[in-house]
Amino acid sequence: MNPLLDKLQPYPFERLKTLVADVTPANTYKAISFGIGEPKHPTPQFIKEALIEGLGGLSNYPATAGGEPLRAAIAQWLERRYALPNVNPATEVLPVTGSREALFSFAQAVVDGSKPGARVLCPNPFYQIYEGATLLAGATPYYADSDPERNFAPNYDAVPADVWRDVQLVYLCSPGNPTGAVLSLADWKRLFELSDEYGFVIASDECYSEIYFDEERAPLGGLAAAHQLGRGFERLVVFSSLSKRSNVPGMRSGFVAGDAAILKKFLLYRTYHGCAMSPAVQAASIAAWNDEAHVRLNRSKYLKKFQTVTPMLAEVLDVRLPDAGFYLWAKVDTKTGLSDTEFTRQLLAQYNVAVLPGSYLGRAAHGANPAENYVRIALVADVDECTEGAQRIVQFCQSL
Ligand SMILES: Cc1ncc(COP(=O)(O)O)c(C=O)c1O
Repeated sequence: MNPLLDKLQPYPFERLKTLVADVTPANTYKAISFGIGEPKHPTPQFIKEALIEGLGGLSNYPATAGGEPLRAAIAQWLERRYALPNVNPATEVLPVTGSREALFSFAQAVVDGSKPGARVLCPNPFYQIYEGATLLAGATPYYADSDPERNFAPNYDAVPADVWRDVQLVYLCSPGNPTGAVLSLADWKRLFELSDEYGFVIASDECYSEIYFDEERAPLGGLAAAHQLGRGFERLVVFSSLSKRSNVPGMRSGFVAGDAAILKKFLLYRTYHGCAMSPAVQAASIAAWNDEAHVRLNRSKYLKKFQTVTPMLAEVLDVRLPDAGFYLWAKVDTKTGLSDTEFTRQLLAQYNVAVLPGSYLGRAAHGANPAENYVRIALVADVDECTEGAQRIVQFCQSL
């Protein structure tokens, strides 16, 4: 077997299962899970109908590059969403079967693991696929800690020059999982300067870009940042997804967009990788990218939950409304005196509410784990369940 497989870390949910294996949740309460970040709002009917209408395509093998209508729908969505003058659907866009597989396979295509000291920069805390992709590409992750003083953005200036020289790829997540932070134009400017200096590729995971709380302030994306700074898309590829935007995590549909030269090579890689999108999923994806009404409705449901739950939890934990995304990132130790893992165990035992310990999403790379003593609370259930879960968390904290 590939020895690099032994370097992979257990997934956070496996660690959560082990943590609470001996906990018997209070059966006086119905179980509420804030642990797993999986969208739970219903899939819009018109997307299901487009999927059914697209079934006729099943008799053909789809092209890895996807059909022109899908690439055009994605390019037009990008132009509308980010006020971009011109995205070339033939060269600057590729459909992918969910951003997860693309985030993983991208490192396999981009990173030269045979170069001594090959490194990939990951945010910390982070989505664990970045780390696994790095390790299996034969590189070593360098963890750039998110800094609460900088709205949880990594301080790229704190990365030493001799590390930057070995960095081939930078993963970033904006809006961030788990912190919800959106990178500012100033953060992007600095990152582009560093990329110009050291030559690394930027993989910008933007799969939460459509879940935000102020209709007037949609999160900045990497392509828009490049455009606003008067540059092209060189060494920049963004990853987007319908999973959260359109409540179709089971459909496996997203795209990558950006640097045409990199996407050309990535397409070659993907031809062998074998992950072309089913024609029925392509049809449903076109319908989804072409419609914003369902996305606004989806956002309004999240807004209601965050408006209700955030002030409740802010009474008992260090937490505030994130820039975007569907997680609350709450620091628990300051107000409760409990570590993230103890908080998780006791909350489950006494109130049957599951959260995810932050430390499972980060690494102690530079002394301390920057995610330690935070918990991630995924507000994915409906508003009543989220409110009840928040009430129980308040009771739990007040009982300590
Ligand atoms: C940060 C982040 N990136 C990517 C993904 C993958 O999403 P999908 O493969 O459904 O597009 C997730 C899923 O939870 C995520 O949290």
